[in-house]
Amino acid sequence: MKYLVTGGSGFIGSNFLHYVTKKYPLDEYVCLDALTYAGNYHNIENLKNLSNYKFVYGDITNREFILELFKKEKFDVVINFAAESHVDNSIKNPTIFLTTNIIGTQNLLEASLKNQIKRYHQISTDEVYGDLPLDRSDLLFTENSPIKTSSPYSTSKASADLLVMAYYRTFGLPVTISRCSNNYGPYQFPEKLIPVVISKALNDEQIPVYGTGENIRDWIHVHDHNVGVDLIVRNGQVGEVYNLGGRSEKTNLKLVKIILKELKKSEELISFVEDRKGHDLRYAIDCSKIENELDFKRSYQFEDGIKETILWYLNNVKWLEQIKSKEYQSAYLRKREVK
Ligand SMILES: NC(=O)c1ccc[n+]([C@@H]2O[C@H](COP(=O)([O-])OP(=O)(O)OC[C@H]3O[C@@H](n4cnc5c(N)ncnc54)[C@H](O)[C@@H]3O)[C@@H](O)[C@H]2O)c1
Repeated sequence: MKYLVTGGSGFIGSNFLHYVTKKYPLDEYVCLDALTYAGNYHNIENLKNLSNYKFVYGDITNREFILELFKKEKFDVVINFAAESHVDNSIKNPTIFLTTNIIGTQNLLEASLKNQIKRYHQISTDEVYGDLPLDRSDLLFTENSPIKTSSPYSTSKASADLLVMAYYRTFGLPVTISRCSNNYGPYQFPEKLIPVVISKALNDEQIPVYGTGENIRDWIHVHDHNVGVDLIVRNGQVGEVYNLGGRSEKTNLKLVKIILKELKKSEELISFVEDRKGHDLRYAIDCSKIENELDFKRSYQFEDGIKETILWYLNNVKWLEQIKSKEYQSAYLRKREVK
């Protein structure tokens, strides 16, 4: 089987590629990525000599390019990780979120239909369900919860999900969608909470925490997310949505304190800053559907996963520094020019 993995240089996509290229040596994987500020060629550079893998530099919003690529490569399966993914950026500049996350998805769907691919899988987010109150721990989002978005980011992701389902209903495209909670693990771009906290704490810098830090997120290790995606792509029911979560809710403040304790840094580094506009209060996912139907199991407990993650960042300070110095962005393009 030949897989197209879009956004494979980003956080979750690169972890996915590391996992599947090793697990399924007889399958072929093509990583397509536009290497935006969030894409980092270093994340996947060590895959480049594998016989079942190749990298293609390109943009999912470029319809002609996508149609050509599909015609040439004859993919069997498409997994769309590519997206603008940072809520704060979507508040500052919504347009690119609509272009990448909606139009980009539409291009992939059109090309998938034209080329009769066997499965299109959309990587979505629990943020499409909006938020839950802080004082109702009994409430969880199920796959039947209404779409009720808060940010331009989640709205663009929800719009893409609706398009994906329209291609299933209208054209019979064999689709699946996964909606996952917050991920943590190696290779996460240091604009998101966990790598920001680690990076700032290592340099004894102030750690910004929105509002009072009481907002709750459910954390899942990126490996467990990717195991779930792989299960859905291989065994999930066409036309179905599957929630994925870590069953590990934490307030942002608690999370920051756990990391500081692990790094033996003072809580005095915490600096409460003005709350994010429209900040979702609590995300909590009921993932019993994938657990019951596809026998999904997590291999990480949060307490162990976060320690391992912190250690990864400590062992990869160079990776963090390359991002800070912006060196990472041009690495692949420079190599192309030299060839
Ligand atoms: N990070 C999370 O906690 C989380 C949780 C649930 C769902 N998701 C979803 O998972 C997916 C991956 O998230 P992530 O955290 O790895 O994001 P990321 O920002 O780290 O990576 C996104 C990748 O997409 C690429 N990309 C962006 N625009 C592109 C375009 N036009 N054409 C081709 N490539 C493009 C970037 O270069 C980058 O490599 C996203 O769809 C996101 O919505 C993320």
